[in-house]
Amino acid sequence: MVQPSSPRALLARWLSSRGNTPRADPAFLARFGYRFDAIADLVLRLYAPRLDDPDAFVLRVADLLAGAHASRPTELRAGDAEREARVAEGREPWFLEPGLAAYMAYLDRFSGDFRGFRERLPHLERLGARIVHLMPFFPCPAGNNDGGYAVSDYLGVDPRLGTVADLVEAARELHRRGLYLAADLVLNHCSDEHPWALAAKRGERRYRDYFHVFPDRAAAERYGRAMPEVFPETAPGNFTWVPELDAWVMTVFHRFQWDLDWSNPEVFVEMLGILLELANRGIDILRLDAVPYLWKREGTDCRNLDEAHDIVRLLKACADVAAPGLAFLAEAIVQPSEIVRYLDSGRVEECQLAYHASLMVLLWDALATGKTAVLSRSFGEETRLAPGTGWLSYARCHDDIGLGYDEEKILRAGFTPRAHRRFLLDFYSGRYPGSFARGRLFMEDPRTGDARISGTCASLCGLEKALEEGDGAAVDLAVKRIMLLHGLAASLTGIPLVFSGDELGLVNDFSWLDDPALADDNRWMHRPRLDPEALARSEVADTVESRVMNGIARFLRLRKDVPAFAPDAPFEVLHAQDEHLVLCLRSPKEAAAKARILVAANFTAKSRAVRFQELPAGLGAPARDLLADEDAPSVLEPGTGEIALGPYALAWIALAAPERKAGA
Ligand code: GLC
Repeated sequence: MVQPSSPRALLARWLSSRGNTPRADPAFLARFGYRFDAIADLVLRLYAPRLDDPDAFVLRVADLLAGAHASRPTELRAGDAEREARVAEGREPWFLEPGLAAYMAYLDRFSGDFRGFRERLPHLERLGARIVHLMPFFPCPAGNNDGGYAVSDYLGVDPRLGTVADLVEAARELHRRGLYLAADLVLNHCSDEHPWALAAKRGERRYRDYFHVFPDRAAAERYGRAMPEVFPETAPGNFTWVPELDAWVMTVFHRFQWDLDWSNPEVFVEMLGILLELANRGIDILRLDAVPYLWKREGTDCRNLDEAHDIVRLLKACADVAAPGLAFLAEAIVQPSEIVRYLDSGRVEECQLAYHASLMVLLWDALATGKTAVLSRSFGEETRLAPGTGWLSYARCHDDIGLGYDEEKILRAGFTPRAHRRFLLDFYSGRYPGSFARGRLFMEDPRTGDARISGTCASLCGLEKALEEGDGAAVDLAVKRIMLLHGLAASLTGIPLVFSGDELGLVNDFSWLDDPALADDNRWMHRPRLDPEALARSEVADTVESRVMNGIARFLRLRKDVPAFAPDAPFEVLHAQDEHLVLCLRSPKEAAAKARILVAANFTAKSRAVRFQELPAGLGAPARDLLADEDAPSVLEPGTGEIALGPYALAWIALAAPERKAGA
C-alpha cells in the first residue's frame, strides 16, 4: 500500500487541482475544509487495509462530494443556508423545532401513489404532522419484497407509485407547505434482484465482493455462530445457498435481502453517491434502515460494532459537506444504551434522530399490567440525549413490538423477566383471560419461547374486540387507551410520530392473508390502507374515527405552543406513590420561559388521584389542565390538593411558579 499523505497535504492537493475552480462555492469549501480531517481519518480507519492507494480514494470521495454539491438544486442550497444559519444564531436545529410532529406511511396504502399524495396532504395538515416519512418507494421485486425493504434500484421509483419527477415534486410540495420529507436509505442489504446481485450471480468478481459470500456451509456457520436470527420463523439462519454463486450469501433478514459488505470501500462509495443523490431530490431526513447491522465480524453478534458507528460518522461528515440540511434518523431497535450511541454527538456526529423504541415498549408494558414501575424506572437517565439530537416518540409503527428491554428493570419492578414476557405475549395475543387486546404473535421461536407482537394500535387497545361485541362502554375505554398512548408520545419527550391508520383508530386488516406474497408476515395486519370511508367518517362528529383523529390532532396542536414540550426540553420522571400512575415533569429549556408541565397518566380503568402533597416540594401549585375541556372538565380540585384522573386519563397540568420565600 502507498503510504497515505497527511489530511492537510491531501486537502491542499485537492484544492489546487480541483477545488479552486470558479464554480466552487466558498461555503462548500469552508465546510469541506472543516470536515476534511475527519473524513480522511475515518476513511483510513475503516478502509486502509483494503486500499492500494488511500490518497486516491480520499480524493475520489472529495470529487464525489464536490460533484454532488455542484448539482444540488438552488432552492435546496438556500434551505441548507437557512438551516445552518438558525444553528449559528444559537437556535435549535430545524428538526427539533418546537411543535414538529411526524407521520409515517406506505405510499400505496396512504394515497395509492405519488399522484394521490397531494390530495392527502390536507389530512396530514388537519392532523398537525409536518414530517412525512414515506416508506420505501423504490423499485423492488414483485411478490414478497418486505414492504419495499428489498430494494432493486436505490435511485429509481417503483413505477406502480410514480416517477423520480413525482418524488421531486412531492418534496417541493411539502416544502411549499412548510412540511418535510423523510425517506429510507436501506443500506444494510439490497434485493437479490439488484443489478449488483445479478452481476455477482453472473460471476463478476467485483460485485461478488459487494456481499458476504462463503464457499461452504461450515464457513458460513463458523462466521455467524454468535449471530441471532431476525426472522426465525420464516427466514431461519443468517445465510442462504445461492446456486449461481455456488456459495452461501449472508442474508440476515430475508433470503432475498443480501447483506452488503461495508468493509468493501466500493460499497461505501456507491452508497455515498446514492445518499447524496437522494438528498438532492429534496429528502430532508434519511432513515438509516437496520443501521446496527452494518458491520460484521466473525464470531460476534454482528450488531452495533464500532465500525458501524464509524460508517455513520463518515456518511454524516460527507453529507454535512455536500448537503448540510440533511438529518439522519437511526433505525436502531436495540437496547436503550446502544440506541443512544447512534446519537452521540461527539466531535463527529452520527444520527440526529432515533426511534424511541424503549419508550414504545414500555408504554405497552404499562398498558397490559396497569402498573407503571417498569416504565417509570426505565425512562430516565439512560434515555437522555446529547444536545442537538432528539427522539421520535411513538406508540406503533409498521414493525412488530419486540420485548427486548432491560431485564434488570423488570426484576427491580418486582416481576420475573421470563414470566413477565410470557404474560405480555399472552395479553396482546388475546389469550390471557380478560385481555382486551387482539394482536398476534410474530416470529414465535419455540426453542426460546421468544416472540414479538403484531396488531394495530386500536386493536391492541381493545377497539376491535369492543366493536365486534357491540359494547359501547368498551369502545369508550379503547378510545381512551389509544388517546393515552398517543398523548404520552406527544408529551413525555421528543417528537411525536403517528403511524398511518392509527390516527383513525383503524383495527387489524386481515386482507393480508389473501395475498400469498404477504401471507407469511403478519406485520401486514397492522399496515392498513387509509380507507376513504374511514377518512370520511373522521369528519363526522362522534364516530370513532373522528374521536381518535380529533383527539390526536388536539394533542399535537396544544403541545405546539408549550415551551416545556419542545422535543429536547428536559424531563424528569417523578416517583408516584400510586403504582398505576406515571408522573413526568417537563421544564422549558429557558428557565424564563413560562410554566413547567406535570404530565400525569392513569394506566387503569378505575379513577385515581394524584396527591399533590406527596410530590416533591417546590414543584409549584397545579394551575390549569391544558387538556381539560367541556367533555372532561378540569380535574383540579385545589381544595383537596388532589388531581382526579378518570379511567386511562391523561392530564397536562401547568404548574404555577413555586412561591418564593420572603427575602429569597
Ligand atoms: C427494518 C424495517 C423492517 C424491515 C427490516 C429489513 O427493520 O423497519 O420493516 O423488515 O428493516 O429491511
